[in-house]
Amino acid sequence: MMYVHKKMRSLLLLQLLLLVVVVVAEPDKPDSPQCHPDDEAALLAIDSALGNPYHFASWSSDTPCCDWYDVRCDNDSGRIISLYVFQDANLTGTIPDAIANLTHLRDLTLHHLPQLSGDIPESLAALSELSQLTISWTAVSGPVPSFLGALTTLTLLDLSFNALTGTIPASLAEPPYLSGINLSRNRLVGPIPAALFSKLAPQEDVYLWLSHNNLSGSIPAAWAAVNMVHVDLSRNALTGDASMLFGRGKALQYVDLSRNALSFSMSGVEIPEQVYVMDVSHNGITGSIPAQVANLTNLQLFNVSYNKMCGAVPTGGNMDRFDAYCYRHNKCLCGAPLSATCRRYTTIKT
Ligand SMILES: *[C@@H]1O[C@H](CO)[C@@H](O)[C@H](O)[C@H]1NC(C)=O
Ligand SMILES: *[C@@H]1O[C@H](CO)[C@@H](O)[C@H](O)[C@H]1NC(C)=O
Ligand SMILES: *[C@@H]1O[C@H](CO)[C@@H](O)[C@H](O)[C@H]1NC(C)=O
Ligand SMILES: *[C@@H]1O[C@H](CO)[C@@H](O)[C@H](O)[C@H]1NC(C)=O
Ligand SMILES: *[C@@H]1O[C@H](CO)[C@@H](O)[C@H](O)[C@H]1NC(C)=O
Ligand SMILES: *[C@@H]1O[C@H](CO)[C@@H](O)[C@H](O)[C@H]1NC(C)=O
Ligand SMILES: *[C@@H]1O[C@H](CO)[C@@H](O)[C@H](O)[C@H]1NC(C)=O
Repeated sequence: MMYVHKKMRSLLLLQLLLLVVVVVAEPDKPDSPQCHPDDEAALLAIDSALGNPYHFASWSSDTPCCDWYDVRCDNDSGRIISLYVFQDANLTGTIPDAIANLTHLRDLTLHHLPQLSGDIPESLAALSELSQLTISWTAVSGPVPSFLGALTTLTLLDLSFNALTGTIPASLAEPPYLSGINLSRNRLVGPIPAALFSKLAPQEDVYLWLSHNNLSGSIPAAWAAVNMVHVDLSRNALTGDASMLFGRGKALQYVDLSRNALSFSMSGVEIPEQVYVMDVSHNGITGSIPAQVANLTNLQLFNVSYNKMCGAVPTGGNMDRFDAYCYRHNKCLCGAPLSATCRRYTTIKT
């Protein structure tokens, strides 16, 4: 017994000693992982392609590239996994092909760079580990490239607030985890690809912004089976049915369909419980407002104005939050807060 104890004690002492040695040795370990020479070369090529702007003043071989501004390394591999260039009105040029030489990149963000112009270069298709691609608030133009659909690891694509033209490529339906798409505020035309989000696992939450373009055609019927949480299709030229977005038990929280040419009946549509914003104003929606709206405890904004709806405005619940401006310019909506009183049988006045 005593012997074991002694042995254990000496083992403990040895461990303690080792710990002290390790702690003392710690300052020799670099704070950041070693920078990979290929990544350093790629970053210097990016810097040079953009004319060595002041923005990259910290990008000097005097310090390891993992310490440079706007980049992040993976702590284990030391490879650059994130490039985040943000807010610089002086940064001028096109998206450098050299970015594609950061072969381990997972997150590429080029945001608020108003002098960044030209197309989205095809070289980016080589970034086979890219998960998040954001190019927003720039002067980048040309198409939303079809090759983005080949980036199978993509989860988020934000190309909002640019000058992109053409149609949404059908290939964006391909990446199996791509569940966040923001193409708002461009000059896109044509239909929404029918298969968009069809490869996603059914429980995947989807966030979509397509507002302020000139998209036409109908909303994909298959979205009835897509788990939309946030959908903004406002200010386009979409037509037809949107009722597939709604329904009992869906995850929907935010829905803005305003300023399109949608035409479907709202009667019998069930609005999911978690909805807090619902703007369907400026369309050609018919039918009546579902009475169940009054039961939506989260509802902050509700706007059905400028449609072709009829019948009584629901009362009770939170409905007193919404004024006449949320209902006006319909065919024959009636009841408070509108001045038109409801009759037993609502007749259409001419
Ligand atoms: C790397 O390590 C630093 C410091 O230990 C930590 O702050 C940072 O979050 C880590 N980065 C990653 C990508 O894990
Ligand atoms: C942009 O250029 C102006 C004029 O040269 C300079 O004053 C300013 O600091 C620059 N801004 C950045 C973010 O580099
Ligand atoms: C990418 O790296 C390769 C090999 O190091 C090099 O030949 C090529 O010029 C680089 N591309 C760019 C655009 O810098
Ligand atoms: C665009 O998408 C991003 C997700 O990256 C989101 O956070 C942002 O609010 C969106 N912008 C607009 C204007 O909808
Ligand atoms: C949208 O497209 C239609 C034709 O498809 C065109 O007549 C209209 O001018 C466009 N609107 C805008 C704002 O570009
Ligand atoms: C609203 O909720 C109440 C209480 O849960 C319920 O009795 C009523 O049937 C609901 N109304 C509608 C239109 O769903
Ligand atoms: C509802 O939409 C109409 C038409 O766009 C607008 O005038 C009104 O201010 C909106 N009201 C709310 C509360 O959003």
